[in-house]
Amino acid sequence: MKIALGVTGGISAYKAAELVREFQQRGLDVQVILTAHGQEFIRPLTFAALTGQKVITGMFGSGPQEANVESAIEHIAVAQTIDLLVIAPATANCLGKLANGVADDFLTTLYLATTAPVVVAPAMNVNMWEHPATRENVERLRRRGVHIVEPEAGYLACGMTGPGRLAAVEAIVEKVLDVLGIRQDLKNEVVLVTAGPTREEIDPVRYISNRSSGKMGYAIAEASYRRGARTVLVSGPTALRPPDGVVHIPVVSGAEMRDAVLERLPEATVVVKAAAVADYRPVKRSAQKIRSKAKELTLTLEPTEDILAEVGRRKGDRIVVGFAAETPAEIEDLLTSARTKLESKCLDLIVANDVSQEGNGFDSDSNTVLLLGRNGLQRQLPRLKKMDVANEILNEVASLRAHGRS
Ligand code: PMT
Repeated sequence: MKIALGVTGGISAYKAAELVREFQQRGLDVQVILTAHGQEFIRPLTFAALTGQKVITGMFGSGPQEANVESAIEHIAVAQTIDLLVIAPATANCLGKLANGVADDFLTTLYLATTAPVVVAPAMNVNMWEHPATRENVERLRRRGVHIVEPEAGYLACGMTGPGRLAAVEAIVEKVLDVLGIRQDLKNEVVLVTAGPTREEIDPVRYISNRSSGKMGYAIAEASYRRGARTVLVSGPTALRPPDGVVHIPVVSGAEMRDAVLERLPEATVVVKAAAVADYRPVKRSAQKIRSKAKELTLTLEPTEDILAEVGRRKGDRIVVGFAAETPAEIEDLLTSARTKLESKCLDLIVANDVSQEGNGFDSDSNTVLLLGRNGLQRQLPRLKKMDVANEILNEVASLRAHGRS
């Protein structure tokens, strides 16, 4: 989704930079519009660097030499492509113009030209906020359907105390997500996700591992964060960049993953184990590189700790979701094997994937999964992008929470 962020001239204009980051971390594309007065408080370059996009600073380009048809009708193009306009901070002057249909710069013209919902977060001196003119303007905007994020009371930059301070960044973000209909159904959860493979060392240069890319687990972590959960991602070695906003704990071996998961477990309310933990590790790791000799080499392997089973044993009120990676001869085998794991590891939900199918499971962008719940749920999903699979899994988690898990 794309939103436009209008920044007007107030001391709290610097907080708009933080807003940009928060919106981006929730997957929103942000076009910043900085008014002439806004530029007295913060430079366009700050927003250009954060968004990687041109910042709109005026109606007709940056000066008479730059005036052209494209910049003159840009407000119409922006108006038609945005899903929401948010103005933060909005000065008393800006509120007055919006309320009275004055369109004398890019931002106020955009307000008239767009049919997208509008969120306004005012910030000003307490007397200005309480002035009847401002009160009337705010009420008029409210009646028109504009969402107002009320300023907070407190010590103001002008030295006075009272309402007028820009609302907290979290409150503005929450309102925007709410108006956009972006679910925040996991906002009371702390979701612990594992992803990627583990590596079990044989010697300093060799290891046992598998083909997990981490894409499935990273998609779950990203979706979970976007849906409002505090999200911790314990990940084996992958080539992926951890999603913004997520706490990333890199690990290498199964033992390290176990330690990291158990350390973070007390704070977690939901655990999703998408990692492909190596099932075996060498009993002995050679301190030196094993020399190549023209004869057979026998490695003795021992099972790694089953992290998911251990989490299941300590489950408490947590919702625990496991995966089952299978290469079944028949669909029935997938079902039986996944059900066994669901029961034996004390899970609420298991995500079974047939990893022998082309385009599924390991190192692919899509996945076809069967969801099985302790509550009797059985849902076969079609092949979906991993982000969509992630959201389907989280829908089930949210529904388990809403229905008291049973
Ligand atoms: O990373 P990608 O390339 O995107 O691929 C995604 C995936 C195929 C890795 C993912 O969809 C998947 O199936 N993950 C689980 C892989 C796996 O190890 O499945 P399993 O059936 O062997 O294990 C069952 C469950 O026990 C899993 O939740 C696993 O994380 C857990 N387990 C297994 C062994 C072990 N020692 N400790 C564990 O916690």
